[in-house]
Amino acid sequence: MSLNKPYLDVPGTTIFDADQSRKGYWLNQFCMSLMKADNRARFKADEDAYLAEWPMTDEQKAAVRARDLNWMMRTGGNIYFLSKLGATDGLSFQQMAGSMTGMSEQQYRDMMVAGGRSPEGNRVVGEHGDAQGPVNQSAAWKDWEQQTQKRLAAAVQQAHDASNKAATGHARISASVYSSHVPAIGAAIDHGKTAEPYWAPMFAGFEPSKAWMKTHRPDVVFLVYNDHATNFDLSVIPTFAIGTAAEFEPADEGYGARPVPKVIGHPELASHIAQSVIQQGFDLTLVNELKVDHGLTVPMNLMFGTPAEWPVRVIPFHVNVVQYPVPSGARCFALGQAIRRAIESFDQPLNVQIWGTGGMSHQLQGPRAGLINREWDNAFLDRLIADPQDLSAMPHIDYVREAGSEGIELVMWLIARGAMADAGGGRSPRVAHRFYHVPASNTAVGHLILENQA
Ligand code: DHB
Ligand code: FE
Repeated sequence: MSLNKPYLDVPGTTIFDADQSRKGYWLNQFCMSLMKADNRARFKADEDAYLAEWPMTDEQKAAVRARDLNWMMRTGGNIYFLSKLGATDGLSFQQMAGSMTGMSEQQYRDMMVAGGRSPEGNRVVGEHGDAQGPVNQSAAWKDWEQQTQKRLAAAVQQAHDASNKAATGHARISASVYSSHVPAIGAAIDHGKTAEPYWAPMFAGFEPSKAWMKTHRPDVVFLVYNDHATNFDLSVIPTFAIGTAAEFEPADEGYGARPVPKVIGHPELASHIAQSVIQQGFDLTLVNELKVDHGLTVPMNLMFGTPAEWPVRVIPFHVNVVQYPVPSGARCFALGQAIRRAIESFDQPLNVQIWGTGGMSHQLQGPRAGLINREWDNAFLDRLIADPQDLSAMPHIDYVREAGSEGIELVMWLIARGAMADAGGGRSPRVAHRFYHVPASNTAVGHLILENQA
């Protein structure tokens, strides 16, 4: 995959990037657990029993038992996390760092006292500095590698066979979907009220969408939504956060968790997108523990109904639209463009849809609650289809004045729209479905499906 990793040819170092983090997640979380005195005591009393509580790989556990920091780094460990293990053993940072160099503790100390290691010859692999050459390995690591050599050879052969069989190509965005995500829609589904006169016309508007989805089901949905004070309270307020975990449970938003399936993520694609998008100048927050609220689960129901398992993988993408300043429409549109480039540089032939959720007109608070502006909403849909770049220049105050305070959720639609082909110089999308309805709880429901044309 074509990520920019210029640091791979720096000798004697491992840069802790999203891929390393994904590999080392449980190893690092295990290390973090040693921040608590009780856990340190339990670990020291019976290492094997304590390690058995953690879903780390056998190799990571072997590396921990061997206290081989280079080995732990190879399997995804990061020094700041691993240092908790070193601290548990009573080691200083200098002892830990020195242990990775192949020098004795005294030699390393002497080198530091003499001014430290020189960068000369240690900038690029293949120069002639003293940090070149193979990483020093503990006897346990060498042993592990010998014992697994045969297994590895077999695995390589297997992977080779599989990759010969697997289709080649890269991921592409086939369509974008836009939809309100009102929690009352979820409640109507969960309590069997969809056929009631209040709800029937709203759900009827999504029947064509469910039919369309049967023939256009993607492998992955990149789902842009906002967390509504569910995971992120006022202690942490990320502007943009991407869910890189393997799965995401439905959240309990105060009424009990919705009876919907858990969401299966795509950690490999998500961390690829994170790395690519950050390198394109958008400083995302990466989230490995996330419960998904109505902002995500309601659109899933609207597009897929109520299956026992969701038929697609989902990458949740949160945008702060709760506390100002929230990101501008222009920033969201440009982020969408960056996400498209990221997705289309992923070298697996995945069909990806990007969804934008929230909106349309709604004001949930104050004497102005219940504000609905049909004309403005429909003009927003027109402009979203025909000239989203121009629409993205609209200031926040227009959303608030015209569509209500919570109408600001609509900026998220611009992320999905920016990821469409025409925003990158390609063809204009085809409108597969458009729907507008008032009311659902306090909002106007807007919905659009745009297909990229080959
Ligand atoms: C409502 C709409 C929302 O988008 C939301 O996040 C919460 C409530 C509503 O209209 O009730
Ligand atoms: Fe919302």
